[in-house]
Amino acid sequence: MSGVAQELVVEHHSIDERLADVVAGLDEGEVRAEAFRAAATELKHHIFVEEEHLFPPLRAAGMIPPVLVMLREHGEMWGVLEMIEGLLAAPSPDAAVLREACGRLMDQLDAHNLKEEQILYPAADQTLAPQDQESVSTALVDGDLPGDWRASMAPPR
Ligand SMILES: [Fe+2]
Ligand SMILES: [Fe+2]
Repeated sequence: MSGVAQELVVEHHSIDERLADVVAGLDEGEVRAEAFRAAATELKHHIFVEEEHLFPPLRAAGMIPPVLVMLREHGEMWGVLEMIEGLLAAPSPDAAVLREACGRLMDQLDAHNLKEEQILYPAADQTLAPQDQESVSTALVDGDLPGDWRASMAPPR
């Protein structure tokens, strides 16, 4: 892999490391809320870049079923992210409940990222026009998630 695929894989690893740090804390009964927020911010932005910049040209290239599976999984992960944010908003969050939820999120990410890295990202390297690759790269560097953007298949609030 090269180009945008490689940039997206680097971000997968960064998110994995942040979440692993949160889970390591929870395993010792320590709630690392700030670390979780950093992981959640990076993951939400990653999902935004994929849904707004990467998936449309992939869909146009005919990869409709795999993109639909990814959108569904983003929606599920978004729901877990917001659930964890809700748990962290409690006065004294329960580390065991958080541990279970973060473990579930990491399992979802493992399965999801594997499919992207084996199928979607190599296809992006091969089929995206240069301007679409540029659009993904630029969006990855611009770290802001617009307003109240949520994954397209996120559960209703
Ligand atoms: Fe994704
Ligand atoms: Fe991804």
